[in-house]
Amino acid sequence: METAFNDFYKGKRVLVTGHTGFKGSWLSIWLHEMGAEVVGIGLDPYSEKDNFVLSGIGEKILADIRADIRDGEKIKEIFATYRPEIVFHLAAQPLVRLSYEIPVETYETNVMGTIHVMEAIRATDSVRVGVMITTDKCYENKEQLTGYKEDDPFGGYDPYSSSKGACEIAIQSWRRSYFNPADYGTKHHMSLASVRAGNVIGGGDWAKDRIIPDCVRALEAGKPIEIRSPRSVRPWQHVLEPLSGYMLLAQKMWKDPTGYCEGWNFGPEPDSVLTVWEMASAMVDRFGYGELKDVSDPTAWHEAKLLMLDINKAKTRLGWRPRLDARQCVTLTADWYKRYQGEDVYSLCAEQIKDFYKNRI
Ligand SMILES: NC(=O)c1ccc[n+]([C@@H]2O[C@H](COP(=O)([O-])OP(=O)(O)OC[C@H]3O[C@@H](n4cnc5c(N)ncnc54)[C@H](O)[C@@H]3O)[C@@H](O)[C@H]2O)c1
Repeated sequence: METAFNDFYKGKRVLVTGHTGFKGSWLSIWLHEMGAEVVGIGLDPYSEKDNFVLSGIGEKILADIRADIRDGEKIKEIFATYRPEIVFHLAAQPLVRLSYEIPVETYETNVMGTIHVMEAIRATDSVRVGVMITTDKCYENKEQLTGYKEDDPFGGYDPYSSSKGACEIAIQSWRRSYFNPADYGTKHHMSLASVRAGNVIGGGDWAKDRIIPDCVRALEAGKPIEIRSPRSVRPWQHVLEPLSGYMLLAQKMWKDPTGYCEGWNFGPEPDSVLTVWEMASAMVDRFGYGELKDVSDPTAWHEAKLLMLDINKAKTRLGWRPRLDARQCVTLTADWYKRYQGEDVYSLCAEQIKDFYKNRI
């Protein structure tokens, strides 16, 4: 596949944790399309309708490994066997509401899982670049109108967000302690960065409590789409946007290991925000049928209302920028859900990736 990355990934050994999940399956497909040797570590997919299952990407990549990132020794063994050069760490318990029900498991997976991956990197001298995926929710949310910058304080109200804030602190510590840029070339050969993106949408996500999967489930069942937080403003972004940022960053880190090993935001343009209600309405428009129902619950668990990322650093220093506005994100997403039942899903994803980087949406 002709790529936006000048064949950088061709032949590279790339390990993706969380490859069976939503973002990880898209990343694995994109990397595979570019000729990378992809090694995936994840748990079993959640359902037969996941992008990972439908696309069959697990059978195409070099290794599709089911392992728990809470098992540090096992993760080290996998790293030793496959000797990756680049690592994208996405595996996590990523749901805010579920984190209230299983806070311990959320912390074990997100915080200790990240530490186990960093320890496996440390034990495997083939690894040159590590990109650790956290979230925009890692910042202490002050419900401010301006976007969060990379050096704003970490925090988090709920167990999920705070676990990711804790990941950021751990990543910073491992970078200072073991992968310090000042020691590059003498004590280590590693470049470690963390990346923060917000809610992403795109085909093949069926997670609970996410607006697009909720919309599609309701549309497929012929039921009204129930909207819990209709007025919440969210900065919407297609899954391919941050993934393009992660891969561009890794490429830059490979070439200049001490120049980019820090935190990076990959969000949409400030004007690419829609309320949850507007987003669901846009899905209905693109599908051509369906209706919305306001079911806001004032007694619900606290949910952060406004989160914007300041993306100037990625724009100026990486030359990255979002390609799609909020409506185009919905178009690409709705089209996947309209087409996945009758088509080869791997080809559908590859086509969407190509359309994305060729600006054909
Ligand atoms: N989807 C979003 O809107 C969004 C927004 C911000 C950040 N993120 C972050 O991006 C990453 C990927 O999110 P996603 O939406 O693809 O999530 P997902 O739930 O679809 O996928 C999670 C992946 O992690 C794996 N995993 C979970 N627990 C594991 C464990 N104990 N051991 C090994 N693997 C495990 C799962 O098997 C799956 O492959 C996460 O780190 C998440 O926090 C996602």
